This record gives sequence, C-alpha cells and structure tokens, in this order.
Amino acid sequence: MFQGKSFLKEVDFTKEQLLYLIDFAIHLKKLKANHIPHQYLTGKNLALIFEKASTRTRAAFTVAGQDLGAHVEFLGPLDIQLGKKESIADTAKVLGKMFDGLEFRGFKQEDVENLAQESGVPVWNGLTDAWHPTQMLADFMTMKEHFGSLKGLTLVYIGDGRNNVAHSLLVTGAILGVNVTIVSPIDLQPQKDIQQLAKKLALQSQVKLSIRCDLDAVEKADIIYTDVWVSMGEESQTSERIKQLLAYQVNKKLTEKITNKDFIFMHCLPSFHDLNTEIMKEIKWEYNLDELEVTDEIFTSEHSVVFQQAENRMHTIKAVMAATLGNLFIPKI
Ligand code: CP
Ligand code: NVA
Repeated sequence: MFQGKSFLKEVDFTKEQLLYLIDFAIHLKKLKANHIPHQYLTGKNLALIFEKASTRTRAAFTVAGQDLGAHVEFLGPLDIQLGKKESIADTAKVLGKMFDGLEFRGFKQEDVENLAQESGVPVWNGLTDAWHPTQMLADFMTMKEHFGSLKGLTLVYIGDGRNNVAHSLLVTGAILGVNVTIVSPIDLQPQKDIQQLAKKLALQSQVKLSIRCDLDAVEKADIIYTDVWVSMGEESQTSERIKQLLAYQVNKKLTEKITNKDFIFMHCLPSFHDLNTEIMKEIKWEYNLDELEVTDEIFTSEHSVVFQQAENRMHTIKAVMAATLGNLFIPKI
C-alpha cells in the first residue's frame, strides 16, 4: 500500500494513510529517544536534490536516512546538471538507476512529478512552489502531540494565503478533519482551484473551511499559524508584500482576540521575528521594521511550539521513507 509510492502532494495518501504515518512517526520518535535501532533502509542509497535553500528539510532527510541505515547523498543546485544542461527526465532516469529513493526541493511541482514518473523510484517532495507535504506531517503530528487528538481542532492561518504552506494546510486540514480558516488580504487568498479541491475533501471529513480577510476570524483558533510573507523565489515582491501584510502580523494585540487561552503558535520556519538575520537588517534599514510575520514576543512565548514542529520534520520524514521504501508489513489501513 505504501511500498514504492511517492509522496508528491498531500492527496497522494488517504486520511487513514496520513494518520498512520503520523502515528508511525510518534513511534519512531520514541525509538530514537530510547536509542533503539530502526534501520529499515540498510543498504539503500538516497539522493537529496535541492534547487532551493533549506535547513530543516535537508537536515531532516539526512539524519532520518542515516538513522534508517541508508547512505544519503546531497545534490545541490551547483552540483548537478539538472534542468540547466540535462532535462529533468534524463536526470531522473540516471538517478533512478543508481538511487533507491529521491528527495526533491525546487520550484515547479511538475518537475517533482516528472522526476517520480521517469525515475521509477519513490520521490518525496521536500517543497515546491505548490505544496509542502512533508511539512504537513510534522505539523499535524505536533498538533496531535499537543492536543492528544486532531478531532474538533480549528487552525487559523494568517498571512500569505496563496503560498505552498497555506495551500497545504488548507488541503491537509480538509483531509484530516481539522477546521481551517485562512485570513489574508483579498489579493493573497488561496488559489480558486485549491479552494475547490479543499471544499470537495471537506465534504467527506465534515470540517469547516473558511477564507476571510478580517482579523476577528482568529477568535476561534486553537492553533494560530503563520509563514514568511515572501516565499523563496518571490523576493522581488518584498516591498508589495510588506504593504499588503503589515496588518496581518501575529502579535499580542491579535492573539488577545483568541478565546482559547491555551492556543498554540505554529510556524514552518525560518521566521523573521527579530533583527538577527541579514535580511531583517536590510528590512530594518529600508522599512524601519523590527519583526515581520510574527513578533518576537509571540515567537518566544509559551504558546509557541515551533521547535517541536521543526524536530518532528525528522521523525515524520523518517516515517515516510521507511513506509515507502522499507518493505514494512503494514496491515490494510
Ligand atoms: N520548514 C522548512 O521547510 O524549512 P527549511 O526551508 O529550512 O527546510
Ligand atoms: N513558504 C515558504 C516556506 C518555507 C519552508 C517558502 O516557500 O519559502
């Protein structure tokens, strides 16, 4: 059911399969904490292809692969011919003959789909402009760890509603039965086709989805989630984004509207919550802003689970790789 399958977008797996991967990751987290080996991929070779920068995803795939007993090879944008001198299809055929599984982080969703089609081995999407599926496993695992169950939860995402993370949250919430509200200015709301897809999935799971532009929508949040205002590849739009999203910052004033005083704050990271990055120093110089999508006060508050979320990237990626490549016995789920 999992063996040999790729994970290119959330809808590739059913609700039951995604929930299984989350529970498997919780189990793998315990094994790791207790130093119990779990080398399901001994003798396997994995390639990690990155067109865009990454800290968490690269580190998570590397450590997860090594914990599983595999050899992991990083192929960065300056290392291979991909797309520049050799087509994705030709590269996929070559890599598929040498590696047992491929991770891809890049721009176009069609590239990761093409890689899966042509390589003949499992391909895991480590983020494209369209989706961030491995992030979703970690995020919903973190919610489950925190609240005990996903049932009845309401997630409010605030910020750029048409980026990969917002689209993935909307669709994954709809599959897994978590209510999702996206709060964004009209011009940054989720793409219509993604809204349609999520609505269709929500009919089955009976969750409420809503797309709004008013900040009062945060009132019912159990989870408040934000992401950077400018995603990788869209840097030329920084100035416009800051103007559009300044009112949508997650700060004390906004979180005071939330009724559930035990709400959690989530962010996929990296985050612009202080001046300790080169980019934020430039933003400070140009726009006189100290924080963007979230204030340091909220980011470092007791509500914040962002580093638990980051750690869970590793456990969930391990679960996906083991399930799709490790010849596990998994009864029908
Ligand atoms: N959240 C996430 O994907 O982080 P990286 O870009 O550092 O991999
Ligand atoms: N939306 C962000 C997510 C980074 C993990 C980006 O694509 O840059």
